[in-house]
Parts: sequence; C-alpha cells; structure tokens
Amino acid sequence: MELLCVLGALCVLYFVFQLIRFLRADADLTLLWAELLGHSPESKLSGNVVWVTGASSGIGEELSYQLAKLGSRLVLSARRENELLKVKQKCLEISNLEDKDILIVPLDLTNASTHEAATENVLKHFGQIDVLVNNGGRSQRSLCMETDLDVYRALLEVNYVGTVSLTKHVLQHMVQRKKGKVISISSVTGFIGVPLSSGYAASKHALQGFLNSLRVELGSYPDITISIVCPGPVQSKIVENAYTEKIEKSAPTTDQSSKMPTERCARLILITIANNLYETWIAEQPFLAICYLWQYTPTWAWWLTGKIGARRIQNFKRGVDADSSYFTKKIN
Ligand SMILES: NC(=O)c1ccc[n+]([C@@H]2O[C@H](COP(=O)([O-])OP(=O)(O)OC[C@H]3O[C@@H](n4cnc5c(N)ncnc54)[C@H](OP(=O)(O)O)[C@@H]3O)[C@@H](O)[C@H]2O)c1
Repeated sequence: MELLCVLGALCVLYFVFQLIRFLRADADLTLLWAELLGHSPESKLSGNVVWVTGASSGIGEELSYQLAKLGSRLVLSARRENELLKVKQKCLEISNLEDKDILIVPLDLTNASTHEAATENVLKHFGQIDVLVNNGGRSQRSLCMETDLDVYRALLEVNYVGTVSLTKHVLQHMVQRKKGKVISISSVTGFIGVPLSSGYAASKHALQGFLNSLRVELGSYPDITISIVCPGPVQSKIVENAYTEKIEKSAPTTDQSSKMPTERCARLILITIANNLYETWIAEQPFLAICYLWQYTPTWAWWLTGKIGARRIQNFKRGVDADSSYFTKKIN
C-alpha cells in the first residue's frame, strides 16, 4: 500500500514537472531534452563543411555566425552577393576561421539549372559537404481569393522545387560518401493550416512530404540523415520579403518584438542538426501548444484555428499588423 502511495506521488510529481516544462517550453519536448542531455553542436559540428542557403538575412545569417563560432567551414548562398560578403566579413571577425574557410556561392533557388555547377564549385573548394541547410525561402501574406496564380507558382518554385533541386545534387555526393546531413527549414505551416499563407503552407507541406519520403528511401544509408525544422514566428525579414496578392507587390513591415529572437531559433536548429532529430518544432507558447493540438487532437485544433484565423483575417482586412495581433480581437 505504502509503495503504491509512493509510486502515485512520483507520477503526480512527474506530470507536474512535465506540465511546468511544457508551459515554459519554446520548442518540442524532444528537442529540449536533446538540448539538456544530447550532443552539443560544439562537439558535432566543429570542422564540418556546412552549406547554408538564405545566408544573407534572418535565420540563415544568424546560423552562419553561430556555425562560424563553432569552427564549421562555411558555404554561404543567397541571391544578394553583397549581403553575403558582409556576412562573411562578420563571420571572420567573430571566429578563428580564415578567408579560405568561407566560400560565397551566389545562388537563386528558382534557377535550378545552376545548382549542379554550384555544387561542383563547393566540392572543388572543400572536397566534401557534411551538412546542407536548406534555409532560403519566402513567405506570403495575402488571401487566396485575391492572390494571382503566379504567386502560388513562385512560392512552390522557391520553397519546394528549388530545395528539391539543390538537395538532389548534394545528395549524389553524400550517397557516394555514405555520409551527410540535410536539414531543411520548413515551418509550423508545414503541417498546420494558416490563413493569409495558403500558398506558403502548401509549399512547406510539399517540402515535408518530399523529405519524409526521401528519409525512407535513404533507409539503407544510416549515416545520411534528413531533418525537418518547423519554426513558429521568429524575428527576421520574412514578412517584409513575403509575397502578397501580386508578384511585384511587397508586404508592409511588421512589429517583430513579440517573436522568438533569431539567436535562440538558430541555436535550436544547431541542436537539431547535432542530434540528427527527424522533425523539430521551434515555437514559443501558445504556438507550441497549437502544434501539439494539431498533432494529437486535430478536432480541437480545427476549432481553435478557426477562431484565431477569423481574427487574423479580420485584422488583416482592417490593415492591422496580422503578425503581431494573432490573439487580439479589436484593434482600432
Ligand atoms: N522567420 C519566421 O518567422 C519563419 C517561420 C517559419 C519558417 N521560416 C523559414 O525560415 C527560412 C528563413 O527565413 P527568414 O525568416 O530568415 O527570412 P528572411 O530574413 O527573409 O531570409 C530569407 C533568406 O532566403 C533567401 N532567398 C529568398 N529567395 C531566394 C531565392 N530565390 N534564391 C535563393 N535564396 C533566396 C534570402 O536571400 P536573398 O534575398 O539574398 O536571395 C534570405 O537570405 C525560410 O525558409 C522561412 O520559410 C521562417
């Protein structure tokens, strides 16, 4: 009887502990366990050749700084070479890396015909690619019924087709070596539905379907790992660079203060890489709780998403910043 009481008390303590952890969490609990008890990025990524796309801004830029500090050799890609040069300069200033340890490879994800040459260029310089971080991408802020079909095509080209193309080229090398890591930055919209982002969500859903299937196809290569990272709102230029109703129309700037700091997101991505985690969610509450609802109780998730989504659309139509007013009903 006494033993049962002790066991019961231990169970209650365990659940209270897990509840407190969950309420304070800014990532899924598997990732947070890996942060506490798993491999550190310092022990796994130093000296690796890591190719980061979308390195000219936001999450990719911050990842490059943190990787440089770890001593990873870097390949920095994006379309804007001048921005990449600035990122390279800062990487050199904050690390012990030398000029030859950081290669700039300007690359447009939507121009797939250039991806093979870019990969050969990297292999010629470093002789190997240990990690590919598929981070480059663009978001969307517009309602489906008001958005041109061209915007849907463009979102698929950059977020999905471009990533598939580069991954296929780099994988040829990894398969020959029987070793490598491919990490792709998807989004929580890669598995949940979000208004104003129907094309973006579709492109990230497509990406996740591709990567999950690819992981199974590569089952006979245990040292090649495919990881998917799903961030919620993170401070970056993602909203101002987002597609809107028309290809050429830009989105307004938004308040970033309520979003996760870029540094924290980048650190959690590095922990995902170091621990070969298949899929991680990086989001503060209440977004993290919504991810869990979508995964385990979809009926409740649909109900809640409908309520929050209606407010988001209402705020968007009134011209209120839809990204900093998810849970706000009336803003005048
Ligand atoms: N920030 C968030 O809240 C959030 C949430 C979930 C997921 N994500 C994902 O995180 C990734 C990084 O986004 P971010 O938040 O850091 O946004 P960001 O600051 O706008 O950075 C996007 C990066 O992608 C590059 N890029 C855009 N179009 C490209 C193209 N056609 N070819 C090559 N590179 C291209 C940009 O460089 P150039 O313009 O120089 O080409 C830039 O370096 C994206 O995949 C995004 O979907 C972000």
